[in-house]
This record gives sequence, C-alpha cells and structure tokens, in this order.
Amino acid sequence: MSTILITGANRGLGLEFAKQYAADGWRVIAACRDPAKASDLSAAAGDIQIETLDVDDQASVDRLAEKLKDDAIDLLINNAGIYGPRHLPAEDMDYEAWGQVLRTNTMSPFRVTMAFLPHVKKSDKKVIATLSSKLGSLKGNRGGGEYIYRSSKAALNTVMKGLSFDIADDGVSFVLLHPGWSSTDMGGPNAPVKPADGVAGLIKVLAGIKSGETCVYYDYEGNELDW
Ligand SMILES: NC(=O)c1ccc[n+]([C@@H]2O[C@H](COP(=O)([O-])OP(=O)(O)OC[C@H]3O[C@@H](n4cnc5c(N)ncnc54)[C@H](OP(=O)(O)O)[C@@H]3O)[C@@H](O)[C@H]2O)c1
Repeated sequence: MSTILITGANRGLGLEFAKQYAADGWRVIAACRDPAKASDLSAAAGDIQIETLDVDDQASVDRLAEKLKDDAIDLLINNAGIYGPRHLPAEDMDYEAWGQVLRTNTMSPFRVTMAFLPHVKKSDKKVIATLSSKLGSLKGNRGGGEYIYRSSKAALNTVMKGLSFDIADDGVSFVLLHPGWSSTDMGGPNAPVKPADGVAGLIKVLAGIKSGETCVYYDYEGNELDW
C-alpha cells in the first residue's frame, strides 16, 4: 500500500486530495493545523490518519517528522498555502503581509520537504509534489499585479527546481502543480474548476510521473507550463 502525506488537508484542495487518495486505497496521513476543528476531514472515509502540523512552525514540523520517522512516504504533497491581500496596487504594498505569504508559500514547503526527505527517500515512489500556481510562471505573467502571491509561487518554483538538481541522485521526483482556478475558500465561489475535478486531474498527472522524472511543472489537465 502506498502512503501519502498532505499538508493543509482540512479544507479545500488538501481535503479533496485526502478523500480521493483514500478512496483509491492509499494510506493517507492528513496534516492540518487544528485536527479538533477538521470535521470534514474526520468524516472522510478510508485509511486517514489525522496529524497536527503548522507548516510555518519548525518545531511543529520537526515533531511530526520525528513521530513518523519509521514511515516511508511515497508521495508528499505540499498543499498548504495562503493568498494574502488581493489586487494591492504597488503603491499600497503591505510588506508585513508579503513577508507572511513568502513564509507560508515559499519557505514552509521547503521546510516540510527537508524534514520529510528521509521518509520519501525510503519509499517506492519517491515523489514530492508542491501546489504552485500558474501565477508563479514568469513567462506566463502578461498582466502584472498580484505581486505578493505571484512572487511567493515564483520563488517556490525556484527553490523546488533547485532541490530537484541537488537531490536528483537519490531518485526523488520534484513536481510543481497548478490545480486550475478552483472554487475553494482561496479561489472563491466563481472559480470555474471544481476542486474534485482539479484534484482528479492532478492525481492523474502524478500517476503518470515516471521514476526519475523530475523538475516538472504541470497543470491539472497534464499540460506542461512555462517557468
Ligand atoms: N484555489 C485555487 O484556485 C488555486 C489555484 C492555484 C494554486 N492553488 C494552491 O493550492 C493550494 C491549496 O489551495 P486551496 O484553494 O485549497 O486554499 P484554501 O481553501 O484557502 O485552503 C488552504 C489550506 O492551507 C492551510 N494552511 C494555510 N497556512 C497553513 C499553515 N501555516 N500550516 C498548515 N496549514 C496551513 C489551511 O489551513 P487552515 O484551515 O488552518 O487555515 C487550509 O487547509 C495552495 O497552495 C494554493 O496556493 C490554489
């Protein structure tokens, strides 16, 4: 049986990943900040183990890594993320908020990846997938704006691409994913992609990652994106 660890699994795309992988027969380690409030996750069917994890907190990450030290993790999904203030004009930049978004979207996936690398390395599949966004593509930026979120995902792409070179010898695949504009709390009710569909598409993409394939950036329809 394959094992997956998902961050931010209590709602949105993370919850959907937990439900769909559990339905596919995976052992799911579903991590979230406050398990006591994760009622939708608790109600989900299948082999789901709920764990406490604040990705911004090194002690919290270290605690879970130590607790799971004997587990092999086939697939780590760095899903937890925040958007920060929307549509801020450059003149009104909120530097405090920018720092927090960089911390959660860029530094924390790196932190979680480094903490769980030993668990991934001893698995069969050895895949580290991170929820980026099309908005992190430099080539794809034809409209400007959204400095905070875009920069956090562009920097995320950079550090994950860097790790894909540095850790390539260990056979670990690094995958960056765009789920489509999805109707979660972050995406809002008018987003065109249902979380269930975006996640089903990403699961198909992940199932198609070949051993040794690394440093790839795909959307939920399997299209390779420009960095
Ligand atoms: N929705 C979209 O259209 C879209 C598009 C492109 C990329 N993405 C990316 O997809 C990922 C999931 O997005 P979503 O739409 O599902 O967002 P969401 O509905 O806002 O859910 C965000 C999740 O991240 C968790 N989280 C935030 N900060 C955390 C922290 N410090 N520690 C642990 N968990 C934390 C939240 O937990 P709490 O409940 O505790 O806050 C929640 O579970 C994000 O990385 C996002 O950038 C989304």
